[in-house]
Amino acid sequence: MKKEQSIYELNNFDLDNYNILLYETLFHNANGYIGVRYNFEEGYPENYQLVTSQFINGFYNYTSMKQAEKLHGFVEEKQTMVDIVNTQSIKVKLEDEYFSMYEGTVIDSRLYVDMKKGITVREVIWRSPKGREMSVKITRMASFYQLSLFTIDYEILPINFSGDVVIESAHDGNVANYFDPNDPRTADEEIIHMLPVSCEIINGASYIMAKTTKSELGVCSSVKNLLFQEHELSYHFGENYTVSKFTTKAKKGKKINFIKYTVLADSIRYHNYKNQVGIEMRKALSVPISFLYEKQEEYLSEYWDHCMVEIDGNEDLNITIKYNLYQLLQSVSKDQYGNIASKGLSGEGYEGHIFWDSEMFIQPFFTITNPVFSEKLIENRYATLNMARKNARILGHKTGALFPWRTIMGKECSGYFPSGSAQYHINGDIAYSVISYYLATKDITFIEKKGAEIIFETARIWIDTGNFHEGRFYINDVTGPDEYTCMVNNNYYTNALAQYHLRWAVKFYQIIKGSENFDRLEKKIRLREEEIEEFKNAAENMYLPYDEKLKINPQDDSFLQKKKWNIADIPANKFPLLLHYHPLHLYRYQICKQADTVMAHFILEDAQSMETIYHSFQYYENITTHDSSLSKCIFSIVAAKLGLEEKAYAYFQNTARLDLDDQYKNTKDGIHTANMGGNYMAIVYGFGGFRLKEEGIFFAPMLPKKWKGYRFKICFENSRILVDVNKDTCEFILVSGEAKKITVYNKEYLLKDKVSMDRPGRE
Ligand code: BGC
Repeated sequence: MKKEQSIYELNNFDLDNYNILLYETLFHNANGYIGVRYNFEEGYPENYQLVTSQFINGFYNYTSMKQAEKLHGFVEEKQTMVDIVNTQSIKVKLEDEYFSMYEGTVIDSRLYVDMKKGITVREVIWRSPKGREMSVKITRMASFYQLSLFTIDYEILPINFSGDVVIESAHDGNVANYFDPNDPRTADEEIIHMLPVSCEIINGASYIMAKTTKSELGVCSSVKNLLFQEHELSYHFGENYTVSKFTTKAKKGKKINFIKYTVLADSIRYHNYKNQVGIEMRKALSVPISFLYEKQEEYLSEYWDHCMVEIDGNEDLNITIKYNLYQLLQSVSKDQYGNIASKGLSGEGYEGHIFWDSEMFIQPFFTITNPVFSEKLIENRYATLNMARKNARILGHKTGALFPWRTIMGKECSGYFPSGSAQYHINGDIAYSVISYYLATKDITFIEKKGAEIIFETARIWIDTGNFHEGRFYINDVTGPDEYTCMVNNNYYTNALAQYHLRWAVKFYQIIKGSENFDRLEKKIRLREEEIEEFKNAAENMYLPYDEKLKINPQDDSFLQKKKWNIADIPANKFPLLLHYHPLHLYRYQICKQADTVMAHFILEDAQSMETIYHSFQYYENITTHDSSLSKCIFSIVAAKLGLEEKAYAYFQNTARLDLDDQYKNTKDGIHTANMGGNYMAIVYGFGGFRLKEEGIFFAPMLPKKWKGYRFKICFENSRILVDVNKDTCEFILVSGEAKKITVYNKEYLLKDKVSMDRPGRE
């Protein structure tokens, strides 16, 4: 039977195999503003561990960061994405028996996410201990049409009984974040983040106002329940919770419909957020829920059309890819007040922080499918440029802006600077994303107004960090992407990216010089012509480590002097190494957590010959543990570039189901959004050989042996192009927009309507 390509369904949905924390993540609902982990509304037996959080993108509290030895400029306060409220609880009582998956008999059940409709659904046929049978369908939606809205929609069918039914729906402000003192990837202590301000019922809707303990942010949540048949309603409430209790009659064979609406508004986005919640609630209630479902599907239909990727005849893989892309849409902020956290809005891992994951792993997907999301992400960085300036001063730079390694609102949150703040490549990564956005859209106005300011200010940091020595430009004491090698001189990735960044700073200067916006910017940041000369000089003389004997780019100046550590000799239970070995121990070996030089060979492939890239790939492959989920996708792409098809495919396969199979054993803390973007990149940039460059767009499609064919759509300068790769041929179809020049297998074509060619290297 052909599977529904838009449904990811939990296999064997039975309670014996039900991993609550994992499924809280995998079935969460989010829309880029709100995120709600997936929980059974009726609850679980006591003492089960749960993380029932609900988040708002960009909403945080401060907590103190303990520094045992307080050196100058150390971070003393970090931000945490806060669990703001719990509006999930709905208890259904049939006469004297509460519905529970853990009591009575679950006759049949299904749990799935429908990615076409944008909903998560649980369907259960249940027999109570006393023999009452009902079927219930529970649909959850975080609305893309109305970002403030989350709904839970019940359809209850009494199968063999009539009688009293009670529905109790709670709105609970008494929530707390998850913590684990033994895992550096989660918060380490229990902290109260939200203080109640008020709790009231207005026009049948409950309103809970709360404020954060330290960051002085406020949030208002409102819940309204609708029961579409005759009933009695009463309320119970306390300082920060309310329960709405509906008493009604069930009639055998007659459906009972019940909807719980949650709306949220926060003080980051609205001055009068309580008022806004009222407006949002009225808006949600002004239309039938069927209208909201239609809008959800409409929104998704456009999304799927724009980012279409299809593998011929591989249904499971198609669902997996779709699942990953669905999560990226759920996670990405739709406004400049949020970004995309490394765990999206699905869990509290990394405390909701954003990293370079956003620019280097997720934006490459959005920039060529839905560039408007990349624009928002860049705007979010732009909005925090002043904090990046302050951060640069803290680190001793007199000019320029240095973005934090990890953050929510713009201030640095990294407590351990060698693998945190020292990752100066973050500046290059952000610049790279701005350049890519420009290359894909040619939106020069955006560059003039925002992009260039980011580019120039961050470029200044290279000049101040690095220095000329005997005619070459060196960048010392930084950390590259590989977090098992810290505080090094001339990290190849960093230097190569800084070179690209500085060259583009010069180019943008030349492109926008003379425009009104530029004049304003020049004055604002006091940009001097001599600085542009400095940028040029540093770029042209940038030192890029190269080893003649091995014909590779060493990861940094001292990397090749270090001892080797055979990965095969490390016991399986010692991975990830970061949880079992002291950092200093790791730093002294040639061992990599993730793609570093290999990553540079992907994003800056023209900086080195194929031969060097080949040797580097072979070299680093042997010493990379892939303890970071940001690694395998990059190895897949570079393997594909080198024609190492089997390797490329194996790495790709590892990325596809990373969360669905809980490969890193921490999906309970949230999805790995960078890997999800990487999974897409492995198809389009890897197998498809897609590249976005100053000279235009490039393709070099290969066909993995396991596939019969595949196709994907990309967006370039407002034109949408369909790429269709088959056994013998590949075809490029202009779906919409103006004709475009494309380069396929190093040959240029003008794509007006359709271009087809034979695929080289076919069997
Ligand atoms: C990786 C970083 C990444 C972070 C967040 C770490 O394990 O080493 O490169 O940015 O996770 O995903």
